[in-house]
Order: sequence, then structure tokens, then C-alpha cells
Amino acid sequence: MHPERTVEQSLKTIDEARQGSVLYEERWTEAAAPGSKRFYIESYGCQMNFSDSEIVAAILREAGYAPTRNLEESDLILINTCSIREKAEETVRKRLRVFEAVKKQRPGALVGVLGCMAERLKKRFLEEEKLVDLVVGPDAYRDLPNLISSAEEGQRMVNVLLSREETYADISPVRLDSNGVTAFISIMRGCDNMCSFCVVPFTRGRERSRDPFSIVAEAQDLFARGYREVTLLGQNVDSYRWENPETGATVRFAHLLEMVAQIHPRLRVRFSTSHPKDMTDEVLYTMARYENICKYIHLPVQSGNSRILALMNRTYDRPWYEERIRAIRRILPDAAVSSDIIAGFCTETEEEHQDTLSIIEWANFSMSYMFAYSERPGTLAARKYADDVPEAVKKRRLNEIIRLQTAVSWRHNQNDIGKIFEVLIEGDSRRSERDFCGRNSQNKMIVFPKKKGLKPGDYVHVRIHGATSATLLGEIV
Ligand code: SAH
Ligand code: SF4
Ligand code: F3S
Repeated sequence: MHPERTVEQSLKTIDEARQGSVLYEERWTEAAAPGSKRFYIESYGCQMNFSDSEIVAAILREAGYAPTRNLEESDLILINTCSIREKAEETVRKRLRVFEAVKKQRPGALVGVLGCMAERLKKRFLEEEKLVDLVVGPDAYRDLPNLISSAEEGQRMVNVLLSREETYADISPVRLDSNGVTAFISIMRGCDNMCSFCVVPFTRGRERSRDPFSIVAEAQDLFARGYREVTLLGQNVDSYRWENPETGATVRFAHLLEMVAQIHPRLRVRFSTSHPKDMTDEVLYTMARYENICKYIHLPVQSGNSRILALMNRTYDRPWYEERIRAIRRILPDAAVSSDIIAGFCTETEEEHQDTLSIIEWANFSMSYMFAYSERPGTLAARKYADDVPEAVKKRRLNEIIRLQTAVSWRHNQNDIGKIFEVLIEGDSRRSERDFCGRNSQNKMIVFPKKKGLKPGDYVHVRIHGATSATLLGEIV
């Protein structure tokens, strides 16, 4: 997400915006032993994938590798891939052409494909892409040092075994490219929902929850190192469920949230993603009780029409979604809600598309990630339904959705003018070194002039005097 662009820009380019971050840590490189081998890692897709790259980095560090930002000096080139839409996979293929050129200059260098596309294509990847030496799925990263050793001996290696247990709970991720203030913590892996359009259950396997004590320990450690915000990550955080093997006691999401919130009042807690069918009032009441649990819920609706929601196998209908929004308004009156939306799903009619527009307006989403439906091989929708909305119609509907959401976001932000928010400073604003940027509890990016003595990680109160559809502008009070 690039909050300082206009919503329209950031939404149109969301695929680009989420892609291609090269993960790197300056200090660690300096500390690397001379002569140690170097790896380069590029990540695409969702936050879970970025979070996984930090786990991969920790595993590689243990194996004696140091990171580099420079492709030309790397001994190991890794790309952590996404399969969610066709375009995401095309981007990966394009990057592989670039790596091919690099490999010609550095014949000994290995190229590894990690993540969801590796899992989806498995061995086939080696047939389709001759330059690839390693194909490693999301649950097999512990095996990387072994796979690399074999690859160094000239074998092309694949490990795409999915696990029912792996959560990498004991691995302390290396925070790469971090602002030192905000961090992501994976609390679960996989997904057991079978949304008919979605490839994630196939690429990430069964849902499993991570030991809550390891989550709390990771958050405590981050706080001690100066971090002031953690985002708990899962495809469906509301189905977090961990059973203590000794006592049999069960920890659910509301309880986990509370455990993390109690670490320190100055540690903000966020989470993503909530699923409308599972989001409980208990979670909302827990959010209300702790000021440091941010009043922001990402609650993807996907479509505003009940027939389409049924075809999507989302297991809720429009009235159910509306009831969840009402519960949020009732229990957390100042919370912001955002969404994911798919345009042009199989058999969607014009009227059904209108229902999606009307729910954007009705729910008053502060922002949304919006996509044209992209059929994914092997999914329920690909097997059962015709992808029969013409590309041009999908695009037009998507543009209508984007236009409306931009207007709704603009209105949402105008409504904040005159208000005072507590903001956690994240760093310099993109546009000017004279300004800081940071978020309020509702996850809105706020830009304001710096004041002496303040630094990233500090909290300030900011009065809002202006707004675009993507950013609030203010002054410290
Ligand atoms: N677990 C999250 C979503 C993860 S994928 C949830 O259930 O909400 C992120 C978003 O990508 C989805 O919410 C959906 O809007 C979009 N998406 C997933 N599969 C897609 C497909 N085949 N075509 C277009 N968009 C898709
Ligand atoms: Fe995909 Fe649905 Fe799982 Fe989200 S909840 S990851 S959309 S299957
Ligand atoms: Fe993409 Fe895999 Fe995430 S398909 S969206 S990287 S879980």
C-alpha cells in the first residue's frame, strides 16, 4: 500500500504497489563475515509472503549467507512469488528473464523460486523455466540449506511438501527493509476456507495456528527494540485457534489480541484479515476495551450481491455482511472499515454489479483493494463456472468500482477535517523531508510538518486541516 498516492492511483496499481520489494538489511550486511556467500531476495504478493521472506532470511543467515541488494553480486537469487491473479504470475516470469541475464554473467549463481507459484507449479516449474535451480514451497523453508547444498552440486531441487504443523514459531524473523517502528507477525498459516475463486488454500495448505506464547514473545522483543506497532497476520485471523497440548485450554483470536495488547499501552496492535463469516462480537468488545488495539478492520466483502457471494462460496450473504457492519458501528463507533472487491466474477449481471456499488456506498469503506476477476487453474470456480464476463466488461465494472470508492474515501477523509488524532510517527513523508508521516488508529496516513525533538516511533497529536482521497494533512498540536 502506498498511502500517499491518491486512492485511485494506489488502487489501480495495487498489483505493482504490493510487488517487488527487495528485502535487505544494512547493518546485518556490514556485520557479515568477509567471504560469506550472498543472497538476494525479492518478494511479491501479500504481507504473509513478505513476512515469510523475513523467515527465509533468518534461515539463510543461520546457514552463513549475507543479504545483498545488488543482483550482480549475489550467489543465490530468490524470488518469493504470488499466484493470486494471472498478472502476479506474469510479473514473476518477467523477473526471471532479468535473472537469466544476470546468471549469464555469474554462471555459479543459483536461482530459487519460493512461495505460492512454486507450490502451484511444483516440478513443472523446472520444465518451464530452465534457469531455475530450486523450487521451494511455503512450508519447506527449513529445508533451504540442504536444497542449496544439493543445488550447488548441480542438482535441480524441488521441495513443495505442505505441512499441517509448520508455523516457523521458533524462528525469529530478520526484519528487512524495516522502518524500525512497525512490524508484521504471522499468527497462522494456510486457509481452510474454499472461496471458489481463490488459489490460496492450494498454495498454502491447511490452516494452522501458531503457539500464542511465541507470538507474544516476538511482540515483546519488537517492543524492547523500539518498535511501536505490530500487525498480526493470517488469511482469516478470526479462526485463530490454539489448543494447549498440556492443559487442553483453547486460545482464540479475541484472547490472543488481548495478550498482545497487554504487552504495553504504547504498543499498537493491528490485525489482518478478518472474515465476515467469523468475525465475532467478542473481538469487537476486546478492541473496544484496549485503546492500543487500532480501530480499523479490513473486512473484505468481495461482492455486494448474495447470489454471487454464494457462487464465491464466501458462506455469508449480504444481510449477514450488513449485520456485521452494524455490529462494528454499534460497538466501535469510530472504527474505519476497508474491503477487498472483485469485479466481474462468473455470471455476474449488471444488476449484481450495481449491488457491489451500493454496498461500497452503504458500508462507507475508508478504502478498498479492487480487482478484476482472474480465473485460477484448479479452483472450484475454474472447474464449475464459466469465466463468462468479457474482459472489457470486467474492466469497465472495475473502473466504476474504483471511481465510486475514490469518492467514498474522499468523503470519509473530508469528514476528519477539524479532528485531532493520535499519530504514531513512521518516518519522513514521501514528498518532503520537512514532513513526517504516520497513521492514526483508523489506519489513515497523515502527513504533517516536523517539530524539533520528535522522531519515528514517537506519538503525537495532530489536528487535521486538509485531506485528499488517500491522505490526511495536519499540524501537531
Ligand atoms: N484471506 C483474505 C484474502 C486473501 S487474497 C480474505 O479472505 O479476505 C486477497 C484478495 O485478492 C481477496 O480478498 C480477493 O479480493 C482477491 N482475489 C483472490 N483471488 C482472486 C482472483 N482469482 N481474481 C481476482 N481477485 C482475487
Ligand atoms: Fe482465499 Fe477465501 Fe482463504 Fe481468503 S478466506 S485466503 S479469499 S480461500
Ligand atoms: Fe499471493 Fe500466496 Fe499471498 S497467492 S496473496 S502470496 S498467500
